Amino acid sequence: MSDRNSAPEQSRRLHVVLRRLRPVAAFVTLGLALSGCAADAELDTLDPQGPTAKDIDALSFPVFVVAGVIMVALFGVIVYMIRKSRVVEYSDDEWPEQIHGNTTLELLWTAVPFVIMTVIAVFSTVLLIDINSTEANAIEVSVDGADVMWEPTVVVIGQQWWWEYRYYFNDQVDLTTLRADFDAKSLPPADIVTAGQMVIPIGEEIELIITSRDVIHSYWIPALNGKRDAAPGRFHPWKLEATDPGLYFGQCTEFCGLSHSRMRMQVVAMSAPDFQDWVDRSMAGAEPPSAAAADYLAAYRAGEAAPAPDGTAEDRGLVTFVSTCSACHLINGVNDHDYVEGDIAQVSGAAPNLTQFASRTTFAAGISNTYKPDGSLNRTAIEAWLRDPAAVKDNAADEERGMPDLGLSEATIDDLVAYLSTLGPPPSAELIAATEVE
Ligand code: CUA
Repeated sequence: MSDRNSAPEQSRRLHVVLRRLRPVAAFVTLGLALSGCAADAELDTLDPQGPTAKDIDALSFPVFVVAGVIMVALFGVIVYMIRKSRVVEYSDDEWPEQIHGNTTLELLWTAVPFVIMTVIAVFSTVLLIDINSTEANAIEVSVDGADVMWEPTVVVIGQQWWWEYRYYFNDQVDLTTLRADFDAKSLPPADIVTAGQMVIPIGEEIELIITSRDVIHSYWIPALNGKRDAAPGRFHPWKLEATDPGLYFGQCTEFCGLSHSRMRMQVVAMSAPDFQDWVDRSMAGAEPPSAAAADYLAAYRAGEAAPAPDGTAEDRGLVTFVSTCSACHLINGVNDHDYVEGDIAQVSGAAPNLTQFASRTTFAAGISNTYKPDGSLNRTAIEAWLRDPAAVKDNAADEERGMPDLGLSEATIDDLVAYLSTLGPPPSAELIAATEVE
């Protein structure tokens, strides 16, 4: 007579259920494992491209191998023991041989992990000390025609939801004092302010001063280093170094609200001459698109009324920028007179500096391509952004977090795109080809 609630019967039924679930479990495990694979993953942590990232890789790879060997051995023993000690006929008083109190075994499984963990800890500590120490060498940069020695340093500011970068070349701002009296909300005017894409020279250790203007973000360019938090009210030092020229992708890795997942960034590493060229262009500011626009700008910058040029779409776009966009965005050579007078909060607090807009391969916090793969301007994407920013990147514009919908007419949008496309020479074809963020 069979009792449905007897222990042997329950055990038998459990076995049947588990056996049926085996293919499902195998399928789910395989699916989960494969879902992490991509041929050309932008954020591949196993593809280091600079000395710091290579040091991290050189430590994590052996640790991963050792952990893998231990895992395979451990699971092997578990499976072996399950098979070897399988209970065929269940009985309450049948117990396997107990090993509690076996001195040799207990010493062994205390000593072996201790040795392994100690070795990992020593190497990790040495690496952490190295990662957290900076030995940036001063390099020569020509600034406004004068050669200055620049200890490559970039101030990185996380904002909801994009990244700002500030470069200080001149002695007017002493970075030691800046660090000592750090105030992320009233940083001194910088020589170059840019957004989304950090431009660095190759082969140099770049020191970062990472901070935030609002909530906690985290700066992470996996090919060049690990991640570091950007916290309001303070700064965290960090460093990056790229061996080769190119584009290195990143992503904010601390949940920071609505568009956290769309808070991306890139590092553009360049040869020394290309970097100098970028510095020159950024320092020079934007060229007015026409002679009439130049006259208009000169009057505007002098605080005088001037007839708006309306000859070309570029000219009209400039006028729209001045009347509509300049309350938040800054373009050096256009509305930087406000900046020089120290009214930083008005113009550069919470919106990207657009001086080199057309030289960046992405816009809107690194999520949209400025150019199409064939090298032509990605008008459709820029227009979509100006037409309805929240449709491209969620924001809280009513709380001054993100680009507001300005209700621009299609004609105005066309003019603005025309003007934006004049802001800096287009990036190289290689850089455009390497981008493709959508
Ligand atoms: Cu910024 Cu997440």
